Amino acid sequence: TNGGMTVAIDGPAAAGKGTVAKAVATHFGFAHLDTGLLYRAVAAKTLKGMDPEEAARTLAPVDLEDPSLRDPDVAQEASKVAVIPAVRAALVRFQRSFATRAGGAVLDGRDIGTVICPDAPVKLFITASPEVRAQRRFAELSGKGIEITYEIVLDDVKQRDMRDMSRDQAPLKPAADAKQIDTTEMAIEDAVAAAVALVEAKQAERG
Ligand code: CDP
Ligand code: CDP
Repeated sequence: TNGGMTVAIDGPAAAGKGTVAKAVATHFGFAHLDTGLLYRAVAAKTLKGMDPEEAARTLAPVDLEDPSLRDPDVAQEASKVAVIPAVRAALVRFQRSFATRAGGAVLDGRDIGTVICPDAPVKLFITASPEVRAQRRFAELSGKGIEITYEIVLDDVKQRDMRDMSRDQAPLKPAADAKQIDTTEMAIEDAVAAAVALVEAKQAERG
């Protein structure tokens, strides 16, 4: 194991999970895995006609570098393939081995604290209002030159949240022992500082 320093970060779409995860990873020198990319990479393949289970089973590192993965239509499709138990099952082993790598790991997604790493010593559940999340994602996509409206982004966020929360397997919900952080009116630096403090407290506790 990595001495157990696994940081699990979950929450709804565009809550700031990835931003906090990256900053925490950089701060402590941990590796970072955006698990949403796995589902987006499967989706990119099913949109081209591949069977979802096969796409998940044959996923390769290079698939995570496809620049179209950030597109909102891929995100929608990702939340559809994420409902399929065989797709989720095919992705578990990779995520768990990443989580236990030497040197520490931060994973962000929907089910990290509940299903993938239920024993993670540090768990965060990051939220914000749907409107604020959509506004941030809209700004991010527009900045990348992707043509889209705020209304479409808000719709995407709400539809995915609904699908992610209501599925039978690994639904989006905070782990019982997760620290919840609402970033609706919080600067990203403050969310990062809160996360860093939690990891430091856990490290001190363990000596
Ligand atoms: O990973 P997740 O989808 O949860 O969110 P993200 O990609 O980290 O954040 C979505 C967008 O919101 C990014 O462009 C962040 O820079 C921005 N953001 C922000 O402006 N203020 C926050 N407190 C959190 C995120
Ligand atoms: O960046 P954003 O929060 O908008 O989405 P993402 O993290 O890239 O995840 C895309 C979709 O993949 C989500 O809407 C979920 O349906 C699914 N997902 C999941 O089911 N479990 C995870 N651990 C991560 C993502």
